[in-house]
This record gives sequence, structure tokens and C-alpha cells, in this order.
Amino acid sequence: MYYIGIDLGTSAVKLLLVDEMGGILGEVTKEYPLEFPHPGWSQQAPQDWEKAVLEGVPELLRGVDAGQVAGIGCGGQMHGLVVLDEHDQVIRPAILWNDGRTAKEVEYLNETVGREKLASLTANIAFAGFTAPKLLWMREHEPENFAKIRKIMLPKDYINYVLTGVHCCDYSDASGMLLLDVEHKCWSREMLEICGVTESQMPRLYESYETVGTVKPDIAEKLGIPATVKVVAGAGDNAAAAVGTGVVGEGGCNISLGTSGTVFISSRHFGMDPNNALHAFAHADGGWHLMGCMLSAASCNKWLCDEILKTTDYAGEQKDITPEKLGRNHVYFLPYLMGERSPINDTNARGTFTGITMDTTRSDLVQAVLEGVAFAIRDSFEVARSLGLDIPSSKICGGGSKSPLWRTIFANVLGIPLELLKTEQGPGYGGAMLAMVGCGRYESVQAAADALVEVADRVEPDPELTARYEARYQQYRKLYPALKPVFPQLL
Ligand code: XUL
Repeated sequence: MYYIGIDLGTSAVKLLLVDEMGGILGEVTKEYPLEFPHPGWSQQAPQDWEKAVLEGVPELLRGVDAGQVAGIGCGGQMHGLVVLDEHDQVIRPAILWNDGRTAKEVEYLNETVGREKLASLTANIAFAGFTAPKLLWMREHEPENFAKIRKIMLPKDYINYVLTGVHCCDYSDASGMLLLDVEHKCWSREMLEICGVTESQMPRLYESYETVGTVKPDIAEKLGIPATVKVVAGAGDNAAAAVGTGVVGEGGCNISLGTSGTVFISSRHFGMDPNNALHAFAHADGGWHLMGCMLSAASCNKWLCDEILKTTDYAGEQKDITPEKLGRNHVYFLPYLMGERSPINDTNARGTFTGITMDTTRSDLVQAVLEGVAFAIRDSFEVARSLGLDIPSSKICGGGSKSPLWRTIFANVLGIPLELLKTEQGPGYGGAMLAMVGCGRYESVQAAADALVEVADRVEPDPELTARYEARYQQYRKLYPALKPVFPQLL
């Protein structure tokens, strides 16, 4: 049998066709636009995701026996607010995970409702990208749209709705709404009330590997697959990526270097960061995880190359960064191109280059960007370490992980070995694995991970380089506190 894994990302949807031994039979990527209607705002049309999936699946299945498709699982960009009216029509563009318009609502939630109360209800505090502050924003700024809401969901849930007609959400993704009681895995009535919505407007909750339904006959016909194909609830992209890299059960770690950058630490037990700098969310394997999320990771390098250097030859730009240059760059980059989430929670923060001199070269700037992103991930690592969590090594996935240079920089900035997987398609592969569990191919997510995930490469840190990067990191970490009071005045 075959399984389709969907990675509903911010710049594109990536579709994977996987056989029951975990082999990749095909891959299709369909891009869609991202709107920035104001600086720091970020929106996307759910209809664009729908079109990309409905066009992409038949392409993915071209030349294969589509009758063999048994299941579909989706890992999707988290936190995006998707709202449907009484006819299940999309009311407005989805407000995405990296949107910073809700600074006022975040302040109201954290300061007036109070961090302690939020943490006791949801295990988390408010961050601008989370879904609850967006509901408050909509209630204040778009009351007519707010009044029309009949269903609230997250991006990949919209795709699952299109496929099956079921309004559903899984616990891992629902955790990022700030509306879920993460420990007890149910909607928090009090949080729903604070946001002016009711439980009837919320989707039904499932474990990520549970089947929510089968593909509707008209959609099955459009896609060229049997109407018996099962669709599982799927997961937030980070939880799906962790499944895809085998980070399930107790104490595993995955770093994802996509548009966002995340550190994901899995656990069988519920636990939270007492300072709420790391998110405490449910995992797609039935357990939980802690996560730090930076808003612009591989996207910083993409921005520098595409927008400033006007090239798509990312590898070419890294050629001059020779081993002896590592840990010796005097240029520093703060990667806050969309403000920042973890651990500083500051929508006003902005990107900077610091330390530029007349002899600074193009490749010094590229290197500074690669290093700045690694330093920012290290900030979340430091929070995890301060909680006593032992992270002896980590998996790494996402577009940025394809660069051997960037992997070396990360291993040495963090001072731990990093493992790259044979199939580094984190979220899409994880989605397909969840579908396999939902279809009974494996009895648990852990069993699927044990059978399917294989390490392809391991980067060991070099003690001398780690020491050099340690000194650089200590300089880097002084920059944000120094600039913090200036950033709000730059707006
Ligand atoms: C996680 C987060 C991002 C998005 C990216 O909290 O906001 O990683 O899920 O798609």
C-alpha cells in the first residue's frame, strides 16, 4: 500500500508518496504566495493551500497505481487562524504563525488575564503568533467577520476538512492555540470564554494518528484515489517533523531549520517550563514536548540571498566560508526579521548586522547570518539546559539542514553531535508515518519510527571550534539586551 504525507508549509506544500517500507516513491512541491499587508503581518489564503493540494496530489500519483493509496497524513504550519462561516466558507485570509499584529492582545492576555492563570489553564503564556490573541484581534478590529465565525481551525485542519468534510484538530497543533488544556487534552472552557468563542465553534479533537474519516467521493474522484482512503488527524509541522526524524518517546531532540527554527524535546510525560519561555505542547505520539521556536531561521539566509544578493545559488555563497574562518567572524547578525518568539517574546525586535568594517566581505555577511541563526537556536537550548534537561545529541531536519556548512556551525555552536536522517523530509514523512499508524500498518508511532527512521550522517563537534564559538556566542548574547530599548523606536 501507499501513503501520502503532506507538509503544509509557509512557502509551499510538499507532497510525498511513501510505500509501506518507508521508501519515497515521489515528491511534488507547489508554492503559494504569502502576504505581508503591513510590516510584521503575515497572511495566506486557505484556498491557495487547497488548490495546491488538489492539483499536487494527481501530479504526485502520475504513473503509479493510485488504487494502492491507503492513507493520508498532514503536518502543517502551526497557530494560523482559519475561520469558516455557516456555509463552511473561509471568512478572511488565515493569520499566520509569524504574524506580529497582536502585541496589544498578547499584553492583555499576559498582563491583565495574567501569565499564571494562562499557564494554569493551558500550560503556556501568550505569544503573538498563537491563535487566541488573533481571535481577540479579530473581535476588536473586524467585528463583522468575528460575528460570522462558525468554525475555528488551524491550517492543516482546513485541508483535512476539504478532504473529509470533518472539522477536526489534533492535540499537538491544538496546543499552539492557547485554547487547549494541554495536560488534560481538552478545550479550556475558561480560555474559550476569554476569547469570546464557544466549544461548538471548535473542531473535534483527536490524537494525531487517529483516523478522522475517509476522503469524500467527489474529492476522491478529483484526486484519482479510492474513496476508502483514510485521513488521519495529522500534527503541527514540528511534531510531524519529530515523528519523521524518530524523535518520539522520552528525551529525544530535533532541530528543524525551515522558515522557522525550532528545538523540539520529546517526553512521555506532561511537563512545562516554569518561566514559559519554551512552549509545553502535546506530541503526535500521544505524549508531550517542550519547544523553542524562532520565527526566521532558514528564511534569513533565503532573504539575504534572494532579496539582497539576488542569487538562488545558496551553496555558491557558502563556498568562501572555509573551515579556518569558522568561529572567527567579527560580524554578528540578529535574526529577528519578523520580531522574535522564543525565548525573548518580542514583536518589536528587528534584524541587525553588527561589527561591519571596511574589510567585511560578502561571505562574512553570509557567515554571520548562518551563525546568527545558530546562536538564536542556542538561546532556546540554554533555556532547556537551565531546566536540567540533558540533550546529548540532536536530529536536524528542514531545508537549512541540507547545507553541510550550516550543520557544522550548528554542531559547534551547540557543542553536540547532530544527526541527519536518510529521509530528511521531516513533516511530510512524519505525516505519512502517522497515516501508516492510522491504517494499522504499525501499531504505534514509536513502532513506525523504530522501523522506518534511519540516520544517514552525523556531525561531531570539534572541541577547538566549539570553544571559539562559545566565545563568539558570549558576545552575541550581549547584542539583543543592548538594542532592546531601541527597537520600539525604530517602528
Ligand atoms: C511553531 C511555529 C512554527 C510553524 C512553522 O510554534 O510557529 O514552527 O509551525 O510552520
